[in-house]
Amino acid sequence: MKRSFIREILESIDSDTISFAGGLPDEKLFPIEDLRKASEKVFENPQNLQYTVSNGIPSLREKIAGLYNKEGFETKASNILITTGSQQGLFIIAKYFQNSKIIVEEPSYLGAVNVFRMNGLEMQSVPLAYDGIESRQFEDGYSNTKLAYLIPDFQNPKGSLYSSEKRREAAKSVLKHGGYLIEDAPYSELYFDQKMPSISSLIPDNSLHLGSFSKTLSPSLRIGWIRANEEMIKRLTVIKETIDLHSCGISQYILDHYLDDLNSYETHLAALRGAYKAKMHIFTKALQENLKEFQFEVPKGGMFVFGSLPGVDTFELVQKCIKEKVVYVPANQFYLDRPLSDEIRFNFTYTAQHEVEEGLQRINKALKA
Ligand SMILES: Cc1ncc(COP(=O)(O)O)c(C=O)c1O
Repeated sequence: MKRSFIREILESIDSDTISFAGGLPDEKLFPIEDLRKASEKVFENPQNLQYTVSNGIPSLREKIAGLYNKEGFETKASNILITTGSQQGLFIIAKYFQNSKIIVEEPSYLGAVNVFRMNGLEMQSVPLAYDGIESRQFEDGYSNTKLAYLIPDFQNPKGSLYSSEKRREAAKSVLKHGGYLIEDAPYSELYFDQKMPSISSLIPDNSLHLGSFSKTLSPSLRIGWIRANEEMIKRLTVIKETIDLHSCGISQYILDHYLDDLNSYETHLAALRGAYKAKMHIFTKALQENLKEFQFEVPKGGMFVFGSLPGVDTFELVQKCIKEKVVYVPANQFYLDRPLSDEIRFNFTYTAQHEVEEGLQRINKALKA
C-alpha cells in the first residue's frame, strides 16, 4: 500500500514552496469568532470534558438530521453516527464490508482506496467522466458487487458533478440489485450555483451517506458523520466503539453550540461558496494565461481543478517542480494501477491570490526546461 503522496509532500515542502497539492480550506474563511464563542460555552460546563456516548452527542445528531430534513431528505437522529472525520467513517464502513467486492470511480480519493485495500475489499474500477460514471458500466459492475463507492459532488480529485440522470440511474441499479451505495459527500455544500439532491436521498435504506465539517467549517475539529438506516447505524457503532470509544466530545459540543444559530451557519456557507467561486475563476484564468497546454473543465464547485498536459508524465514533472518550489498532485496517484498519467489535480482554495500566477509560471518553467 502506498502512503498518501499528498501527506508526504505536505511534510517535505518548505515555506517558500507554493502548494497546489493539499485539499486545504482557506484559513482566512474559518468562522473563527463564532467558533470561539461556541468554545467558550463548552468550557463553562465540566461535564463537556467527560467521556461521552459512542454514536455522538444526541443534540448534535439531532441537528445534523435537521440539515437533511431541511432539504427534504427525511432523517432522524438515530440515522446519524458521528465519526472522527469522514475518514473514520470510511474506515468503519470498510471494516463492516471487509473482503467484499466494491465498485469505485477511477480516478478516486486515495484515502478511501487505501482504507478499502487495508480491509481486503476487492476494487473494480469504472472510469469517471466530468458528469459521472457511465450508467451502463455502473449497472454491469454493481450487479456483480452490490456495493459501490461514489463521490457525486465535486469529486476528489476530478471535480466532477454527477448529472441528475446519472444520479437517478445509479439509484435505480442499487434498488434493482439490493446492497449499498457508499456516497461520500464532503464537498456537497461547496457548490457555486445550485445544490443537487444526493443519490442517497433516492435510496435512503440502501445508502451510507458520509458528511463532514472539514471542508465547510474546520478540518481540525475532526468531526464527520454517516447517515444510514437505523439498523446499519447500530452495527457500525459497534465497530466505532472498538476504534476510539467516541469522537472528540469537545469538538462535538463546539459544533453543537455553533449550530444553535443556523442563520449564521448558512451565512457562512454562502460567503464560503462566493469566495471559492471567485478563487476558482482567478485560478482558471491564470491557468489559461500561464500554463496554456493544460486542458481542463471549469469546476462547478468544490476545491479542485483537474485536467491534463497531453503527453507529459506529470509525476516526473512534479519532481522538477519541487526544485522550482511549487507542487501539485500528479494524477497517477489517484488510479488503482497506473504508473503513467498526464493529468494533474490542482487545489485552488488554499493558495493566496498573489501566489497563483507565480506558482503556475514556475510549473511552466519546469515544463519548458
Ligand atoms: C472525498 C473525501 N472523502 C473523505 C475525506 C476525509 O475528510 P475528513 O476531514 O472529514 O476526514 C476527504 C478529505 O480530503 C475527501 O476528499
